[in-house]
Amino acid sequence: MNILFMGPPGAGKGTQAEVIVKEFGIPHISTGDAFRLAIKEGTPIGIKAKEYIDQGLLVPDDVTVGIVRERLQQSDCEKGFLLDGFPRTLSQAEALEDLLSGLDRKLEHVINLKVDRNKLLARLTGRRICKSCGATYHVIFNPPGQEGLCDKCGGELYQRSDDNEESVGIRLDEYINKTAPLLKFYDEKGLLREVDGEQEIGAVSQEIVSLLRG
Ligand code: AP5
Ligand code: ZN
Repeated sequence: MNILFMGPPGAGKGTQAEVIVKEFGIPHISTGDAFRLAIKEGTPIGIKAKEYIDQGLLVPDDVTVGIVRERLQQSDCEKGFLLDGFPRTLSQAEALEDLLSGLDRKLEHVINLKVDRNKLLARLTGRRICKSCGATYHVIFNPPGQEGLCDKCGGELYQRSDDNEESVGIRLDEYINKTAPLLKFYDEKGLLREVDGEQEIGAVSQEIVSLLRG
């Protein structure tokens, strides 16, 4: 199954991806996670991406498309994939069409998680992530059993450097200006499905699974 998750920063793409990749046994391809790993490892791509990410700006398309091209060619993607956070511009969407047609594949489902803008700031500033396994929590909406520690692996939780009020404002503007227009692009292809991302986490997962099982 070849799936794409869309939605503004904080809509719950990463949270739902954790559930869906387990359910369908497919890899999770998150360009945000790929950049954060490159930053941690201090690679040239990481050093370049950090300048943009910390400010809340999109990383240039050529860098981003290169990462996805390499990842989609790996053999575990043959059984399907879940793209999260890519594409984010029209030019990335066109590049993805080319990449997939070169691999004789195409997108089958585009799921848009809808959440009102005024809810996103609280979601993002309260987000905490496990340093060891990457699981996502929220200090109020999805707190860990023990403060600051991951329920799944006991790892330490941290806050992303771009989850501050200033970067979040810029990320939301980038989304509206550059990414939201893609919804029309996928709707015209008959692929777009809307999901109410304001329900509680389990209810959102159930709705996505039933849409995908269709
Ligand atoms: P990326 O990592 O993709 O971040 P994002 O799109 O801003 O999305 P988030 O990870 O912030 O949100 P999410 O929807 O995954 O929400 P989550 O599930 O964590 O990108 C980061 C940066 O990398 C970009 O700004 C850009 O610079 C760069 N980048 C990445 N891809 C790029 C590309 N293609 N092109 C150019 N640049 C790129 O949930 C958020 C919080 O809400 C969590 O705390 C969670 O517990 C909570 N929550 C989730 N669901 C619910 C619910 N139903 N109810 C209550 N709380 C909930
Ligand atoms: Zn963990």
